[in-house]
Amino acid sequence: MPELVTRRVCLLGFGKVGRRLCELVARNDDELAARHGLRLRFVAIGTAGHGSLLAPAGVSAAEALELAADRESERRAFPEPARPGVDLLLASGADVLVEATPLDPQGGRLAIAHLEAALGHDADAITVNKGPIAWDYRRLAALAAAHRRRLLFEGAVMDGCPVFSLFRSCLPDCRLLGFEAVFNSTTNFILDAMGEGGGFAAALAQVQAAGYAEADPAHDIDGHDAAAKIAALANVLMDAGMTPDDVPKDSIRDVTAERVSAARRAGRRLRVLCTAQRNGAGGPVRGAVRLAELGPEHPLFSAGGSTLSVLLRTDLMGTVQIAEHGALPEQTAYGIYSDLIALHEGR
Ligand SMILES: NC(=O)c1ccc[n+]([C@@H]2O[C@H](COP(=O)([O-])OP(=O)(O)OC[C@H]3O[C@@H](n4cnc5c(N)ncnc54)[C@H](OP(=O)(O)O)[C@@H]3O)[C@@H](O)[C@H]2O)c1
Repeated sequence: MPELVTRRVCLLGFGKVGRRLCELVARNDDELAARHGLRLRFVAIGTAGHGSLLAPAGVSAAEALELAADRESERRAFPEPARPGVDLLLASGADVLVEATPLDPQGGRLAIAHLEAALGHDADAITVNKGPIAWDYRRLAALAAAHRRRLLFEGAVMDGCPVFSLFRSCLPDCRLLGFEAVFNSTTNFILDAMGEGGGFAAALAQVQAAGYAEADPAHDIDGHDAAAKIAALANVLMDAGMTPDDVPKDSIRDVTAERVSAARRAGRRLRVLCTAQRNGAGGPVRGAVRLAELGPEHPLFSAGGSTLSVLLRTDLMGTVQIAEHGALPEQTAYGIYSDLIALHEGR
């Protein structure tokens, strides 16, 4: 059995993903110790309105879940009042921050402040919130390097699917020339529901009732979530230095049921396609979120519902396709889990 190292985790965000992370760690505590010599202890957990946990001595994931368990079952709350994330992080003495608060489409400022506080105070940082990577990756990566800390974000773009680590670890010397992707399951579900004959509003209501869209799905419908994913992937793998504001976005609000049905009759599918490519050697990277009709010959034709997929176009290895079937908060929690192990093993 390897010697045990304890990592002190501050988790900001205890919603779908944060809670699944605690459940996953609770299930795998013994495995983490036996296989990796890693013991994870939660020293703080923060929410916006569901209380906070501050436990500088550290509690296990199972204990953290227990502490919140006697509150509401789906939206669990901690006994202490909620407090600002940076205060909680600094009071906890954490050596790793897990950022799992919602995306702020106006620049990701709050999550950026959380990451800055961690990296500036001797903590590594893991984020599944794509905002900081989409809006401010270069500066945060430089901050991490200056403080000899790590910044990891495997779950930020394709949940737990290893798009970043696969590219960096398994495709040595490859340059990413561009990518095409179907990155948003909410718009897949809406477009498919419209293909059944209803208009946009009816399809949206149907998808919301099934739990596949948020109460306010504007970020998905108007392309903001997709643009943030494009910027995050391009910033990390293409050194694009872009933000979601640089990405033109098609909205699916004005798509008619006739258009979706006509595509379907022709054996084609309407999809929100996310693209980026570099214009000329050393030129700028341009991204776009656009509605596209994909025929069966297109490698992304089968992406739909909660199946997401990306085509990575490289100089040395041609085109590599990665697909994820059934994107759920569990997969995103696994993205954090894999980052925690990568941190521990110095990968
Ligand atoms: N769900 C997925 O499958 C998925 C996939 C990929 C990436 N992500 C990303 O993962 C992040 C979390 O997603 P989620 O689905 O878990 O969201 P969620 O269910 O809405 O939970 C968000 C959590 O963040 C808390 N929060 C909000 N503002 C906060 C603040 N200022 N300080 C501390 N906590 C704060 C919320 O508090 P309350 O509990 O009080 O509301 C809640 O606990 C998002 O950035 C999302 O884009 C999610």
